[in-house]
Amino acid sequence: MTNPGLRQLRVELGARAYPILIGGGLLQTATWPELIRGRHVLILSDENVAPHYLPLVLDRLQGKTVVTRILPPGEPEKNLGRFAQAIDDLATLKASRDATVVALGGGVVGDLSGFVAACWMRGIAFIQLPTTLLAMVDSSVGGKTAVDLPQGKNLVGAFHQPAAVIADTQTLSTLPDRELRAGLAEVVKYGALGDETFFAWLEAHADALLARDPAVLAEAIERSCQHKAAIVARDETEQGDRALLNLGHTFGHALETADAYGRLLHGESVAIGMVLAARLSAELDMAPASDTERLATLLARLNLPVDLPAGANPGQLLDLMRLDKKNLSGRLRLILWRGLGQACIVPDVDEDRVHACLANAAMERASG
Ligand code: NAD
Ligand code: GLY
Repeated sequence: MTNPGLRQLRVELGARAYPILIGGGLLQTATWPELIRGRHVLILSDENVAPHYLPLVLDRLQGKTVVTRILPPGEPEKNLGRFAQAIDDLATLKASRDATVVALGGGVVGDLSGFVAACWMRGIAFIQLPTTLLAMVDSSVGGKTAVDLPQGKNLVGAFHQPAAVIADTQTLSTLPDRELRAGLAEVVKYGALGDETFFAWLEAHADALLARDPAVLAEAIERSCQHKAAIVARDETEQGDRALLNLGHTFGHALETADAYGRLLHGESVAIGMVLAARLSAELDMAPASDTERLATLLARLNLPVDLPAGANPGQLLDLMRLDKKNLSGRLRLILWRGLGQACIVPDVDEDRVHACLANAAMERASG
């Protein structure tokens, strides 16, 4: 079947290159089942997604030996216990090296599935069927797979690229508004870190994005994936540029961990984290404060949080930031910016300045 709105990209990684397909109805129409070489398939999904979309996926896998594991929704499920269960599922299935793991869901299911696929028999194929905006524009692309520990997010994981990313935009019709907005934070990130023109396009289309205009959403997904695919192609394992994709994430992960993976969604933490990174950049005289304002204004227009949550503790957050994977030799390595569209890696940030920035933000929050 043809799909007139289909957008196609490719992550150029030599022998491990793979397609990203974006369009309505792709779960049913795209030829992703043909990528499954073997007989055994493990599908991971969650309780919000499976009732809507699992039947469509199962329908495409007739003739295969399929096991499904449906998790309760949410970040707390991205843990070692769930990893062990999925590995058990593969063992029960007697899955051979040509088995495939299918991730049907958001970033939680995607990150967990990818890690399971990376570890079973030292690495089997997996296919990403992302169903959140965040997963379509970020987590399904690029092969970062992981589970969380109580000590910090994504601390156990592997780089393992999917065989394909199939973003069926029709699945977004059931995505709650808050989750859509959380995905928009990662979309804004691409403009903020490296593309002021895209940022301006997002400013012009903020209302259409919130209204879920299908063409505007599809364009935002495609442009985001273009950015991600290009960065991943030149720095798959984050030896350099790829770290720029973490703009706002060191602050954001600390907020998420402090929050014990509960209240704040990942994209919401990233929104607050990006504003903190911009603020710190301005306080370090690296960037104009007016750009922090412009970023915060767009995020606020998208109904995303931009202030520290009430009660956030600067000392605790700084402590958590010290465990970030980007740090080297115990030094705080942050992604900051020289202004809109100009993110940069700053290798040895003065912890006192970070603490002061967090304390200022906390004080403003308390007084404001
Ligand atoms: P998620 O997977 O928890 O999904 C968000 C919520 O939406 C869940 O409640 C889920 O059940 C529900 N949902 C998903 N699709 C739905 C649909 N179509 N209809 C109705 N409900 C639906 O969260 P997320 O925001 O997709 O992903 C966040 C995770 O992604 C975090 O763990 C984060 O660390 C990770 N992440 C990874 C990367 C990477 O490069 N690997 C990048 C960014 C984020
Ligand atoms: N989301 C950050 C990365 O993929 O590198």
